[in-house]
Amino acid sequence: MTLVTDPAEPTAPRVAIVGATGAVGSTLIELIEERGLRYRELHLVASSRSAGRVLTVDGAKYEVQAIETFDFSQADVAFFSAGTSVSEKWVPVATAAGTLVIDNTIAFRMDPDSPLVVPQVNAHELDRRPKSGVIANPNCSTIPLVRLLRGVEDRWGIRHAVVSTYQAASGLGYTGVEELQESTLASLNGPDSAFEPEHFKPSLAFNVIPKIDRFLDSGFTLEEQKMLQESRKILGMPHLDVTTTCVRVPVVNCHSEAVYIECHEPVDRAELVEVLGGLPEVTVHDRTDLKEFPTPATVGSSDHVHVGRVRITQSNPRAFWLWLVADNLRIGAALNAFQIAEELLERGTL
Ligand SMILES: NC(=O)c1ccc[n+]([C@@H]2O[C@H](COP(=O)([O-])OP(=O)(O)OC[C@H]3O[C@@H](n4cnc5c(N)ncnc54)[C@H](OP(=O)(O)O)[C@@H]3O)[C@@H](O)[C@H]2O)c1
Repeated sequence: MTLVTDPAEPTAPRVAIVGATGAVGSTLIELIEERGLRYRELHLVASSRSAGRVLTVDGAKYEVQAIETFDFSQADVAFFSAGTSVSEKWVPVATAAGTLVIDNTIAFRMDPDSPLVVPQVNAHELDRRPKSGVIANPNCSTIPLVRLLRGVEDRWGIRHAVVSTYQAASGLGYTGVEELQESTLASLNGPDSAFEPEHFKPSLAFNVIPKIDRFLDSGFTLEEQKMLQESRKILGMPHLDVTTTCVRVPVVNCHSEAVYIECHEPVDRAELVEVLGGLPEVTVHDRTDLKEFPTPATVGSSDHVHVGRVRITQSNPRAFWLWLVADNLRIGAALNAFQIAEELLERGTL
């Protein structure tokens, strides 16, 4: 859907981006320009560290405002991507001022009064304004996964799914990317070069780390638990069996996932490829050539979920593997949030 940019239009919403200087916030600004969001006013908000910084959007200059002094009654809709503690503190302030919040953090995802939305899967949740005033944006690895699970569930029914993720450094924002670059340079300088990682431990350079977010008593990590709980909520399948190992890899941007799904019925590969390729904004690379596959470096910044390595397992005709790659900053965060806003505008909910 393309919306016409017309800041002068009196019915267009007043928009705030909280976390405008961060990786997700900057991607939202790119999307506003690329997709031509209609807005009457735009407010860029971050911490006091960035207050006064000037950013350009659609050719106009905007001064970044500190959240402490921002008046949320100036915004009809606010995109929050400034961390969970910021959302916990400031989203209630925004909703009390009448602002509809689209939140990118974990703060409201499991709140029963806040829908958790992937527009390609459960846009119907946007038919009415939520009681809480908050629409939650899911975890960056969950979004591309549920977009594929929806199609598989509707055709064959899912018995269970097993997923391993390969998550990029940008999942931790600009600081994650910087630390990957610094640690890689340090490693190239020799094994004795002193580099103390702050975010990825042990260092991510030339390494993979099977731990994202904190450990829970179950032995799973919070990231792994998010993928299970959020998939169930988005798909409306409270008993869905998805088990995950989440791994950080030394890739700058784009998360990948190896996905094993066992269905209730035998699956034909040709039909599976048709079903997956027919889902909105999904590209299947090995439709005809089994040797074609997507990688983070080759798909680049893309608005599609990329799929390859689609294989029916040799021992079980009801089960198959696939590989997916999706831009975590766009599909996994900013684009999903943006598409929620587009759906709201289309419905007149905003
Ligand atoms: N990166 C991803 O792939 C991804 C995917 C899904 C969800 N998310 C979530 O989105 C959020 C932002 O992630 P990111 O990757 O954009 O991080 P980031 O690059 O570190 O950016 C953080 C943003 O939050 C602002 N901020 C930090 N502390 C603040 C405070 N106390 N008050 C107001 N603003 C504050 C920063 O502003 P300053 O410039 O002033 O520091 C910056 O604009 C996180 O909650 C993350 O979990 C990220």
